[in-house]
Amino acid sequence: MAPKQLILGVAAGVLLLIAFIFYVVAQADESYGVLRGFEGAGLWSGTLPGNCQGDDVCHKIKAARAFFIMATIAAFIGALLLLYIVFRPHPKVMYYAAIAMGTRPIYVVSDVEFLHEVFVKQFACFHSRHLPFTARLKSRNLINLFGANGDHWRRQRHVINPTFSTTKLKLTSPIVNECIDALMNKIQEKENQEFDIYTLYKRLTMDVICHSAFGIDTDMQNDIDNPFIVKTAYFFAVHPERIFLVKLSYLMPWLTPILTLFVHSIIALFNGLRYLAPSFMNQFEEIPGMWIINQVKQVIEARVIRIKSEANNKQRRIDLLQLMLDAVTSNEIKDKNDENLMSKRFHQDEVASNVFFFMIAGFETTSTTLASCSYILATRFDIQTKLQTEIDELYAEHNGELDYDRINNMTYMDLFIREVLRMFPIALQAVSRECNTETIVCNYKIEKGDVIQPDILTLHYDPQLWGPDDPYLFVPERHLTRRHPMAFMAFGQGPRNCVGIRFALMELKLCLARLLHQYSILPGKQIEQGFIRREILVIQPDAVYIKLEKRC
Ligand code: HEM
Repeated sequence: MAPKQLILGVAAGVLLLIAFIFYVVAQADESYGVLRGFEGAGLWSGTLPGNCQGDDVCHKIKAARAFFIMATIAAFIGALLLLYIVFRPHPKVMYYAAIAMGTRPIYVVSDVEFLHEVFVKQFACFHSRHLPFTARLKSRNLINLFGANGDHWRRQRHVINPTFSTTKLKLTSPIVNECIDALMNKIQEKENQEFDIYTLYKRLTMDVICHSAFGIDTDMQNDIDNPFIVKTAYFFAVHPERIFLVKLSYLMPWLTPILTLFVHSIIALFNGLRYLAPSFMNQFEEIPGMWIINQVKQVIEARVIRIKSEANNKQRRIDLLQLMLDAVTSNEIKDKNDENLMSKRFHQDEVASNVFFFMIAGFETTSTTLASCSYILATRFDIQTKLQTEIDELYAEHNGELDYDRINNMTYMDLFIREVLRMFPIALQAVSRECNTETIVCNYKIEKGDVIQPDILTLHYDPQLWGPDDPYLFVPERHLTRRHPMAFMAFGQGPRNCVGIRFALMELKLCLARLLHQYSILPGKQIEQGFIRREILVIQPDAVYIKLEKRC
């Protein structure tokens, strides 16, 4: 064989070996989720096992760093496969191996002081979130708040924050109430039957997002095949870190620019073909993300035309879309150079991208929280009675009129929702930080590119942080005691926490108050079978089977 062919053959063999190692290791879904009562969290999900507290974190970081170096070398010589096979039965070793996966260390931390440094005190060094390269593919103006970094993120957050202020939310609460009307109508049809209420909650939260962020009046409760709900569901069915190209980019980060170019080319090819040969391309379903973005753009164009034609109309629709459009410019924005624009403005494409993200962020998270609330209420009648007492008092006080301020004053409701999210946090993987500048945290050197992944379930079930009541028991009153700020991370923490918290809480409280005022929730026969939780992008149950009984 000629030397050239030999080299090519060996290179191909090595590549195949790497791909094989990668494939085998990537299949190793770990036992973390199983230990914690749900299925699916694995090596690539970022939610890894860990039970370290206090000084243990030091040991963990040292071990992670050492293992990272070893594993990187090992991966390239094929020894990782051996390591994997030999140590697989030993969860602790797999845990460190998992941290070292890819070629960057991921520190899974449950030490509150360490997390406080990363999320709050040293935020300037940790302003990025750890995301796969596919999430940062789009052109600059199409990157949304969730994916943006540095000054780009700061400006977007600055513009979006007021959109979720109390004053603005008061204006959007009637829209949420209208969507709950549709839910209540649907529920009437289900009285005294066993049914899955989670499905109805998903339709509610999609209606709320479409009405308030898109500005379009949908009726998901009756239009069950609506493409918005169908396309959005795709995002929660596939974990981006399970995509082969993403795995490859973790194993070989130097390949990322080539992979980015490759994906861009595929998208361009599809878009070109769609334009040149529409009849042929109609046979293929449009990529869900592209479909939604295109819909959003059309809605925005229509809204902009309407605003212009109704320039003097003071009865403008007030929704999240309008509030963002108020800050829009069609000029290119330079984040560093133009202080003036930077502090106030949004590019019009950024509006589309953020509306798109609100849809993803507000749909599954809020409906899943409602699902978990219903599970607890159905199985804990004592808690349900307390909540109903508070709701009835509120109704009596205000002659049945609930608005933003009134529901915000419900103390027990607040404690109840917090406790649900402590025991069943949903979006664990969204809470990560990537180091942007080398720094020292709690005496440990963290390098640029290193990832900090809070071990939220360990934090949320830590008896030292949540005692004296057993953290495995549902006790809403435990939130009356002041806890460490990092003990509760269901909405993340620090300047980059969830921007939609108040919006989500308004929706949750309005919905639960109206539902529990009219009905009592009883467990369906299949409630436990349905409440099997799995993690893909978020941790969610399959279903919540209940019965609703009309209250006298
Ligand atoms: C119960 C419902 C919700 C939960 C549990 C939840 C949870 C989270 C979490 C854990 C994060 C990551 C925070 C961090 O990294 O520190 C996040 C970020 C975010 N959420 Fe939510 N979320 C909910 C509802 C919403 C809603 C309704 C919206 C908007 C309509 C929204 C918009 C966002 C955005 C834009 C970010 C990115 C913030 C940034 O990077 O600056 N979320 N959410």
